[in-house]
Amino acid sequence: MLAEELAKPDGPPVRVRLLSEKLIAFRDTEGRLGLIDEFCAQRRVSLWFGRNEACGLRCAYHGWKYDVTGQCTDLPSEPESNGFRRETRVKSYPLIRQGGVLWTYMGPP
Ligand code: FES
Repeated sequence: MLAEELAKPDGPPVRVRLLSEKLIAFRDTEGRLGLIDEFCAQRRVSLWFGRNEACGLRCAYHGWKYDVTGQCTDLPSEPESNGFRRETRVKSYPLIRQGGVLWTYMGPP
């Protein structure tokens, strides 16, 4: 995709379909680029409807929030002490900018 599609931090997320995978690209508050699974880990709601805010993409349904690595960073319905949030993540791929184009690598880590 073109870098200009994610020009602003906390701008609207962008749907990306790549090798039959449905993904969401976004730029967080600090300008980091993320490419994560389109669907939330809880009830599979599309994160395209989510809010890009405060270094993460927050699901519009129950408010689970994911950072650019797909790690859940906020899970309002669970106490932090049970560790569930730390174990919760969605698939992600690295996204880098080169020559005005955003590139990813979808192979093994
Ligand atoms: S479906 Fe995303 S937080 Fe519930």
